[in-house]
Amino acid sequence: ETARLVIDDGFQLARVQDRVFGSFVEHLGRCVYTGIYEPNHPTADEQGFRQDVIDLVHELGATTIRYPGGNFVSGYRWEDGVGPKETRPRRLDLAWHSTETNQFGLHEMAAWLEKLGGNELMEAINLGTRGQEAALDLLEYANIPGGTELSEQRRVNGADEPFNIRMWCLGNEMDGPWQTGHKTAEEYAALAAVTASDMRMVDPDVELVVCGSSAHDMPTFGTWEETVLSKAFDAVNFVSCHAYYFPEYNADGSRDYASFMASGVDMDGFIKDVAAGIAATKARLKSDHDVYISFDEWNVWYSQEETSKNPEGIGNWPVAPRLLEDIYTAADAVVVGDLLITLLKNADVVRAASLAQLVNVIAPIMTEPGGPAWRQTTFYPFAITAAATKGGTVYEPKLASPTTATRKYGDVPVINAVAVQGADGSLNIFATNRSLTEPQRFTIDLPAQFQATNVSAQTMHEDDLEACNTLDNQNRVTPHINDTATLNGSSVEVVLPPVSWTAIRLD
Ligand code: AHR
Repeated sequence: ETARLVIDDGFQLARVQDRVFGSFVEHLGRCVYTGIYEPNHPTADEQGFRQDVIDLVHELGATTIRYPGGNFVSGYRWEDGVGPKETRPRRLDLAWHSTETNQFGLHEMAAWLEKLGGNELMEAINLGTRGQEAALDLLEYANIPGGTELSEQRRVNGADEPFNIRMWCLGNEMDGPWQTGHKTAEEYAALAAVTASDMRMVDPDVELVVCGSSAHDMPTFGTWEETVLSKAFDAVNFVSCHAYYFPEYNADGSRDYASFMASGVDMDGFIKDVAAGIAATKARLKSDHDVYISFDEWNVWYSQEETSKNPEGIGNWPVAPRLLEDIYTAADAVVVGDLLITLLKNADVVRAASLAQLVNVIAPIMTEPGGPAWRQTTFYPFAITAAATKGGTVYEPKLASPTTATRKYGDVPVINAVAVQGADGSLNIFATNRSLTEPQRFTIDLPAQFQATNVSAQTMHEDDLEACNTLDNQNRVTPHINDTATLNGSSVEVVLPPVSWTAIRLD
């Protein structure tokens, strides 16, 4: 049975927002220190930024960067990270049981983004141990041109012009019991609503992201969103979603790759559930204001396995330890590609997203201190999708697919796919085959108006699902040309190998 995608140019879903290709830099492990910032590295510039990493971030195509956390931000004092580096304090980072040296802070991040090419900063504020006063101080420091205590301090600290930060996260995962300063939905809703409206008094143009749930299966999922949105709806622009997936174990000790391949089914359901909550709240409040989804943490993360363990002990608070340094497999790359397809299929409501994270910490880019930087398997689907679709338009998904059985999600479509008209006029289709064993024939009916002369396809698939790229074998897993793609008048045929992600381009 063939899977079939129908692309109809009369039915466009939404423009692809650049912000959907955001990423995330947290003060966690080696994401900042020896990740993007390593003054003694052979490729470092005078500001300490690794040029090899900047080059890879360019190639990745990451846009908006969420910073400085994550769980870290819920205990962070932003003032520690500004001013002369020699006087910045060393502090306990409770989230990751580490020492924060504060040698990198807001100014360094702004300078790094500038060097990257003017990428947008999405700044998270601490609503864990702090509240609206610290948030207002930071906003004044960052966005007021001058003439006040804090804005003048910024100028003295080297930034004459304001940072002009538009996107702000009102805390991080405040529904999570692991969060420093964790709150009930009612407590958080009250704090987020007042902080949001106060921030708008300082700068009416800020775009605010209120915390939704840290996972689809949080016990408070649903009621959390309802409580928070009811209170803060008109004062915020986005509600966040976070989701991480990994292959869990079957009873026989093997990994449940079938369910893992269908992670996008869960992500899609999560998005649909939150979008329904947004619509219901808007209707109930009779509001004419719009709130969208910021999926500002998503990825594969082997969160219950060895690499993710925090340091322990009252006397043991290492600086930039190796934490969450997951090494991604060929199967993980397929899931990341599938999650990107899912985000694009929901481009009408998901207007921002952040791949968590960027370097070393559950990241598409890895580095060695003093050594090289390289691409993980998951780098490729992100880079290829971003390059082809930025500035483009997503077609309404019209997909008929046979199903495959999974333990967690029941029968799911074996093919997931989306079509995007590129900004350059090309037509781009991304598809995953979630079957563990069977290749799948895939037919694409092209839009009536599209005169295709050329088709090309690249596929990520390895017979060894657990093949990965490492320091010693950095290019073991890469995309390959898929020469089964053929153009037959107004349709395209392609064979998708089992556990694969494919990008098809028509010009
Ligand atoms: O990205 C790693 C962690 O995952 C973040 O700090 C936190 O927000 C989430 O739980």
